[in-house]
Amino acid sequence: MAEFIRDAWYLAAWSDEVPREGWLARRLLDRPWLLLRDSEGVAAMVEDRCPHRFVPLSRGQREGDTIICGYHGLGFDFSGACVRNAFGSPPPGAQIAAPPVIERHGGLWFWPGVRDKADPALIPDFDFIDRAGPVGRSVYVMSVNYELIADNLLDLSHAEFLHTQSFGTNGSLFSHGMQTVETAEDGAVWNKWDIRDAVPPGWAVPMLPEGGRIDQYLHIRWHAPSALALFIGISRAGTEGHEMVIPPMANPHILTPETETSTHYFFTHGPTAEDEAMARRVFLEEDEPMIAAQAAAMRGTDFWEERPLILPSDRAAILARRRLMQLRKAEAG
Ligand code: FES
Ligand SMILES: [Fe+2]
Repeated sequence: MAEFIRDAWYLAAWSDEVPREGWLARRLLDRPWLLLRDSEGVAAMVEDRCPHRFVPLSRGQREGDTIICGYHGLGFDFSGACVRNAFGSPPPGAQIAAPPVIERHGGLWFWPGVRDKADPALIPDFDFIDRAGPVGRSVYVMSVNYELIADNLLDLSHAEFLHTQSFGTNGSLFSHGMQTVETAEDGAVWNKWDIRDAVPPGWAVPMLPEGGRIDQYLHIRWHAPSALALFIGISRAGTEGHEMVIPPMANPHILTPETETSTHYFFTHGPTAEDEAMARRVFLEEDEPMIAAQAAAMRGTDFWEERPLILPSDRAAILARRRLMQLRKAEAG
């Protein structure tokens, strides 16, 4: 399996997952971490592994802003430095990993790579989350590699077949669509579907009491390694987007590898329990089983070595995969 990209910002958790006392223990990029807040509420992240006998520090406890190992009592501050030893002075140089963390867009972003390169300006823009009204934030572990999920999101034509139940798609959208794939200056890859004069999907029909056809845009944006955003709007056909049937919507789909074969999938939804159930149904009951079946069929082999058939709708996913290969090469080189 391919190496993880290290010099990049990854979403570690939504802000409200990280408690003021104690911690959130989470595996990210196949290493164990603790996410916590100091007495001022400032977020931090340290490795959940004692350098003495490698036990999880999460088996220990917090004393203020110090984490005490549950085995022989070494204590670490949130910069990762060993600051306490019950039997003498702290061993010089004893340290656990503590990557830079920035709290932004309602989440904690961390940089696992070279510290000097961790420029906060490189966090992808998810400003729309901050501007949205009440929003529910969720995360779910999907049991597949993150690149397979990014492929799924970058080719939304699957909605016509995989999401017929949830969205009442009817095969009319993408056949009326124009696809534009572009790479933005900040390195983002966009796959923009602009659909004209189509029969509305089932979920939009109640918003069109007098019937009629629709124009719809479905634009998806990808930032390396795997932070995606989906922008959707539906208007009455032929009104150049002026008569919106569904007001513009924007949703994050942010993927952070848990391991090579599992992924934290961060998403938002409307504030009600029904909104959350709907989102979960789409991702968990429709997308995940199909992607898991794909992963099982590939049995850990390399995507390109399997010689996949390439369709025009795959362009954005291929650009993204190519970009990851370049980044991996640069980091290895
Ligand atoms: S294992 Fe942590 S102090 Fe010994
Ligand atoms: Fe999907």
